[in-house]
Amino acid sequence: MSLEGRTAIVTGAGSGIGAAIARRLAGAGARVIAADIRTEAVETLAAGTREVTACRCDVTHAAEVDALVGSAVERFGRLDVMVNNVGQSIAGWLKDATDEEWQRVLALTLSSAFYGVRAALRVMLPRGSGSIINISSGAGFGGSPGLATYGAAKAGVNNLTQSAAVENARSGVRINAISPGAIETPAILAWARSLPGGVPAYEATLLPGRFGRPDEIAAAALFLASDEASFVNGAVLPVDGAASARMPAIEVPK
Ligand SMILES: NC(=O)c1ccc[n+]([C@@H]2O[C@H](COP(=O)([O-])OP(=O)(O)OC[C@H]3O[C@@H](n4cnc5c(N)ncnc54)[C@H](O)[C@@H]3O)[C@@H](O)[C@H]2O)c1
Repeated sequence: MSLEGRTAIVTGAGSGIGAAIARRLAGAGARVIAADIRTEAVETLAAGTREVTACRCDVTHAAEVDALVGSAVERFGRLDVMVNNVGQSIAGWLKDATDEEWQRVLALTLSSAFYGVRAALRVMLPRGSGSIINISSGAGFGGSPGLATYGAAKAGVNNLTQSAAVENARSGVRINAISPGAIETPAILAWARSLPGGVPAYEATLLPGRFGRPDEIAAAALFLASDEASFVNGAVLPVDGAASARMPAIEVPK
């Protein structure tokens, strides 16, 4: 799958899934703008490659996302792929969640995707082509104890994806989402190491028996970015080792 001559933006590219997607798209020939709030992280990613350009962007600010998209068009003349990858959970019971936590999770997870989709549509629609990819989560498909704010925001990302695709179904611009399962990224690994039995014990509780790898999400992103996915639009694609396919167990939290 070649992205030769294409321009892509990946937000939250300084770590985990975003970094893997940026590397994968660049490996397929795209010029990639790797954006993150942590400049040094994307500068490290971009070091020594001509395909990846580092850019600082706080995706919770619409003006910064607009400027990011504007700079891609100014520099490369076009934007073909927009990956809205930033999202963050704050774990805790819903009854204890503060207004600040709610606003923070919404800003990082849902508003960031809205700003990214809107900015990309504004430059892609006049050209009549483009692929927008939102990184969602299995938490957006159903209730997860301790993840209510994050799950609500990711459910919003799923609907944003579907609505954008339906509104623009004849435009040549496709809008899809990927719903990862538990993926081996620094934060989740640190958390799993802190549990009794560490990473192996936690992995044994996962349906596929292991974490997914960031590169397995990146492979799906490359497909959605490419012309091979020309009739895939409005999809929320689970890449989760069957986790979301399982018949729900009835668990009543205490
Ligand atoms: N890791 C998983 O198991 C998993 C599972 C399902 C969904 N996801 C989703 O995948 C996406 C990536 O997750 P990850 O685990 O790779 O994350 P990560 O924490 O490894 O990386 C997130 C990156 O986003 C950057 N970032 C944070 N706030 C930002 C801001 N305001 N503006 C710009 N950049 C910002 C961080 O600096 C970091 O480099 C998220 O949307 C997450 O919800 C992850």
